Amino acid sequence: MDIHRTKSDMRATRAGLARDGATIGLVPTMGFLHGGHMALVERARAECDRVVVSIFVNPTQFGPGEDYEAYPRDTDRDLAMLRDAGVDAVFLPDAAEIYPEDAETVVEPARLSRILIGRLRPGHFAGVATIVTKLFNIVGPDAAFFGEKDYQQLRVIRRVARDLDMPVRVEGVEIVREADGLAMSSRNVRLSEDHRRAAPVLHAALEVGRAAIEAGEGVTAAGERVRRRLEEARDAQVQSVDLRDAATLQPLRGTPDRAVVMLLAVRFGDVLLIDNMVAIPKEAA
Ligand code: PAJ
Repeated sequence: MDIHRTKSDMRATRAGLARDGATIGLVPTMGFLHGGHMALVERARAECDRVVVSIFVNPTQFGPGEDYEAYPRDTDRDLAMLRDAGVDAVFLPDAAEIYPEDAETVVEPARLSRILIGRLRPGHFAGVATIVTKLFNIVGPDAAFFGEKDYQQLRVIRRVARDLDMPVRVEGVEIVREADGLAMSSRNVRLSEDHRRAAPVLHAALEVGRAAIEAGEGVTAAGERVRRRLEEARDAQVQSVDLRDAATLQPLRGTPDRAVVMLLAVRFGDVLLIDNMVAIPKEAA
């Protein structure tokens, strides 16, 4: 497995990997890998001839006061996991390699980046869309793999790739969960023991919401059920509960006749957890 710390090395390796028309799959990550990341790697291996994984904790997608410094890192363990998984190359740059000091160009979908999590974390999706664009340009993948865990992020990246005619297929991979329902996340290790025990409430609340939507309840009533279930957990600070059109992320009113995505953001102490689930109402089933 080749490890590259510079853009020029990565580009040179890319040319070698793509010899004889081999296809290249890219899995962008911020490291501290877990089963969710490895599911993306597996999908990439199944669909592409060569797999490149990037590990880069991207400073521009963290707001002031967010957890950029506290974000967990363990590069040796990450590299061992990727080697075992049969990854061909890892791109492991530092911030100075990625961002020239006078960098000023930003990629940002005007509407999609400012709603929902974009309101909670201003600038976050501009940071994500810009780094992902750069990674696409550096690695030149045929396909790139992202988790449904970050539902809005996946939609943002698809929109950018389509709007800017990027020659990359953007693939979504289902959420991987712990046995108790908690969606795997690098941030889970930052939860206290009590908070870790309480955190599966996100999944439990989503199940409550799904049952309500499937039974034909309206979005307001279903959303209230979700919120009440979340509030049963001590210390859960509910940041947002949004039930939206699963395709457009636009608000819905009344009894939905199409797929609904339920998006949650809940804080435990200083750890922000997100989760989501799609529910198909009876009407649309
Ligand atoms: P990171 O949080 O490391 O996640 C990397 C990829 O793994 C993302 O596509 C994310 O959706 C996916 N992922 C994380 N947890 C998952 C789970 N439980 N099940 C399925 N997929 C999961 O997301 C980022 O990094 C960054 O924003 C990045 C796209 C790399 C840009 O910096």
